[in-house]
Amino acid sequence: MKFGVFGTGTVGVTIATKLHALGHEVMLGGRTAGKDSQLTFVKAHGARARSGTYADTAAFGEIVFNCTSGEGSLAALAAAGDVRLGDKILVDVSNPLDFSKGFPPSLLISNTDSLSEQLQRAHPRLKVVKTLNTVNAAVMTAPQNVANGDHDLFIAGDDAAAKRTVSELLQTFGWRAPIDLGDIKAARGMEAYLLLWVRLAGAMKTPSLNIRVMR
Ligand SMILES: NC(=O)c1ccc[n+]([C@@H]2O[C@H](COP(=O)([O-])OP(=O)(O)OC[C@H]3O[C@@H](n4cnc5c(N)ncnc54)[C@H](OP(=O)(O)O)[C@@H]3O)[C@@H](O)[C@H]2O)c1
Repeated sequence: MKFGVFGTGTVGVTIATKLHALGHEVMLGGRTAGKDSQLTFVKAHGARARSGTYADTAAFGEIVFNCTSGEGSLAALAAAGDVRLGDKILVDVSNPLDFSKGFPPSLLISNTDSLSEQLQRAHPRLKVVKTLNTVNAAVMTAPQNVANGDHDLFIAGDDAAAKRTVSELLQTFGWRAPIDLGDIKAARGMEAYLLLWVRLAGAMKTPSLNIRVMR
């Protein structure tokens, strides 16, 4: 399958590398096509790896991942353009973190709205599916490295078929089926969880952690 990955930081490169390792064709997209991390990704992975702008990447991917910084996500999708995004699935991994006052961060959007909802409202045909944002980049693609994979991910979005597709994809990453929290409004809690996550990572002295939901 062809995947577009928006975001040239740790998360974008980690997701792109995993998708490539699973045999997919992947384009790593940023504001330009020539950032060091993009060129390194293409050089390291050869034929099925490409770099591009957000517009190139939106046109290339059958499914697109949003791994851009929370404050840049709306601009990244605007640059990608509705014509190229169409009614594709957007897997939204971003968090609206505000580091302007240092650490710990606060949320740029919260309580009655979320970044995922803003992305969905800005691009109504897009099928926004929120997931993976509650774990560190290294855990996203190697869940087995924490408690042998015995822990949970969440998923939210308005389109049930899109959530099923993303859930199946996550299982190829090594995840068990994520807990479906319902429509895209559930992204409010998933994003706000980051306020707890940053403290947890500090308390546990590692970002390589996750939670398991029991009842
Ligand atoms: N790091 C983690 O472990 C982790 C875990 C869970 C969720 N997340 C979330 O995943 C996302 C990516 O995190 P990250 O640490 O990999 O990288 P990041 O530094 O948060 O984001 C890097 C990407 O954002 C793009 N960007 C920044 N400002 C932009 C703007 N104004 N317009 C368009 N694009 C802009 C950059 O574009 P250029 O390529 O053009 O510079 C780059 O591709 C974030 O939302 C983060 O909160 C991160």
